[in-house]
Amino acid sequence: MQITAVEGLGAEITDLDIKNLSEQEFADIRAAFAEHGVIFFRDQDTTENDHIAYAERYGDIKVNRFFAAHPNFPQIALVAKEPDQKDNIGGGWHTDHSYDHEPALGSVLVARELPDSGGDTMFASMYKAYDSLSDEMKAKLEGLKALHSGKHIFGEGPDSYYNTSDAGTHEEGTSRIGNSAVAEQLSDPEHPIVITHPLSGKKALYVNPAFTREVVGMEKAESDELLSDLYTHVFTGHDFHHRFQWRPGSIAMWDNRSTWHWALNDYQGQRRIMHRITIEGCPLDA
Ligand code: SIN
Repeated sequence: MQITAVEGLGAEITDLDIKNLSEQEFADIRAAFAEHGVIFFRDQDTTENDHIAYAERYGDIKVNRFFAAHPNFPQIALVAKEPDQKDNIGGGWHTDHSYDHEPALGSVLVARELPDSGGDTMFASMYKAYDSLSDEMKAKLEGLKALHSGKHIFGEGPDSYYNTSDAGTHEEGTSRIGNSAVAEQLSDPEHPIVITHPLSGKKALYVNPAFTREVVGMEKAESDELLSDLYTHVFTGHDFHHRFQWRPGSIAMWDNRSTWHWALNDYQGQRRIMHRITIEGCPLDA
């Protein structure tokens, strides 16, 4: 098994079969995941049961309340775009599940059907985003918390930043996922803006444009300006971005506490079907 760091963030892991990992190989993969934030596998021949078995080695599976589930495997969320859909799921920078009190540890995404071209996924390192902030900004963020919510995205709201859509229930050309009854019951959590990562012990910036609503205890204008400055820092931090090109058999596993991701929507008229499993996390501390 070989682990090779890739440009920006992440590591590609080759010469392995995720169906048959020894304890040592799994320990090395887990360490690479904690260090790099996202790991990529190629040429994996996996069934849905193999996908579930791999994810369960990290912890319990978190069943998504808002995505369409695989018809036979409720643990697997469908991240699908049909040829007649315009929007895609995850079509803007975000991190999954920050709207939960115990945000998900990570997600394992398996490519099942890919467009002829396009459909790459962008990743950004929140370790490097934090490390490259000015000392003044780091001091300003110390002790601050932000409020996160999914209501505006998964409820009735028209917010389109996350470009939610799904293959199961869409009308031609326009669709969204969600469950307003469940979304309205979400009790919105506050998380530190800078977390100490539970696996690596490193500091990471923990706000994202999809689900972070405001800085706790700040006037709206000041909060908007601070969040906008932090987002601009990440949007323009090209040296800590990685663009992953999917191939049949590719799998990406990202850490939701130390990365952002963004599914590029540049393959109109083609189908892209991905299977996602998300793994339970824990509360986040400063
Ligand atoms: C997601 O945001 O979970 C989807 C990522 C992708 O489809 O590339």
